[in-house]
Amino acid sequence: MKLITVIVFSIDFLLLIDASPSGVQEGIVLHKCLAPFGGYTLENDQRLQRFKQWSDTYEEFPCFTNCYLNNIFNIYNETQGFNDENVIKRFGRSVYTACKEKLAQGNNSCEIAYNGFHCLINREDDPFFLIDNIEDISMEAKRAMKECLHKFNTDEWQYLGDYVRFPVQEPIPCYTRCFVYKMQLYNHRLRSWNITAMQRLLGVPAEHANIEKCLSLSKRRHNNMCAGIYKEMTCFSLSQ
Ligand SMILES: *[C@@H]1O[C@H](CO)[C@@H](O)[C@H](O)[C@H]1NC(C)=O
Ligand SMILES: *[C@@H]1O[C@H](CO)[C@@H](O)[C@H](O)[C@H]1NC(C)=O
Ligand SMILES: *[C@@H]1O[C@H](CO)[C@@H](O)[C@H](O)[C@H]1NC(C)=O
Repeated sequence: MKLITVIVFSIDFLLLIDASPSGVQEGIVLHKCLAPFGGYTLENDQRLQRFKQWSDTYEEFPCFTNCYLNNIFNIYNETQGFNDENVIKRFGRSVYTACKEKLAQGNNSCEIAYNGFHCLINREDDPFFLIDNIEDISMEAKRAMKECLHKFNTDEWQYLGDYVRFPVQEPIPCYTRCFVYKMQLYNHRLRSWNITAMQRLLGVPAEHANIEKCLSLSKRRHNNMCAGIYKEMTCFSLSQ
């Protein structure tokens, strides 16, 4: 799973594994596709790890991407090019739209594969695309999340994807409080959440979920408002 964790990063690499035809071992594919360059060596692995930083116009291992995609995912076929439907399934519509032109750009299949995949992989990390691709939340919530992101240093944007894992510490401290306040989901004075509005805008907590313990958290909260809001929001999101 080397390249998957490395190139394709962390967010939902499980999805990606699902997308590879069953039984295909990534290591074998890497050996095969890197054979013209000396195989899957430590040095080549290190170069591959910088795949995202490779130039837009020059593939460091010429024709590698064509070979790799052709063998491991269902998003591309050497003869037919990229499969729009599968690209959308895997990367989301906004990444697809942003890269649409690149998916067909090139003088041959090697160039097309590289142009397209390089674009997809780089776009995928873009936090604004990530927000656009969150399912089941309203446009209003997406807008609030994007506006809030602008209040934070761009260095912190890279941590947005970590929210999907609900870590104990908030990945971007105070970000949740920002969009919660912007959408007026929490009344600071009354210390009360507007559950109806949360369900409408964010789709959480689930209908009929038991949220007693989440509600009681705000009664006990004392000083750190940002951490408290994040913790309670996590609780609402995970409650069933
Ligand atoms: C790509 O498509 C062609 C034509 O439909 C097919 O023969 C070939 O097996 C496909 N290649 C892969 C790797 O799926
Ligand atoms: C096609 O090849 C030419 C000449 O090598 C190159 O300048 C051009 O960028 C290539 N086109 C694309 C879309 O990559
Ligand atoms: C909760 O939000 C809705 C709008 O979604 C609003 O109509 C309602 O008055 C709010 N309830 C409270 C208690 O603030």
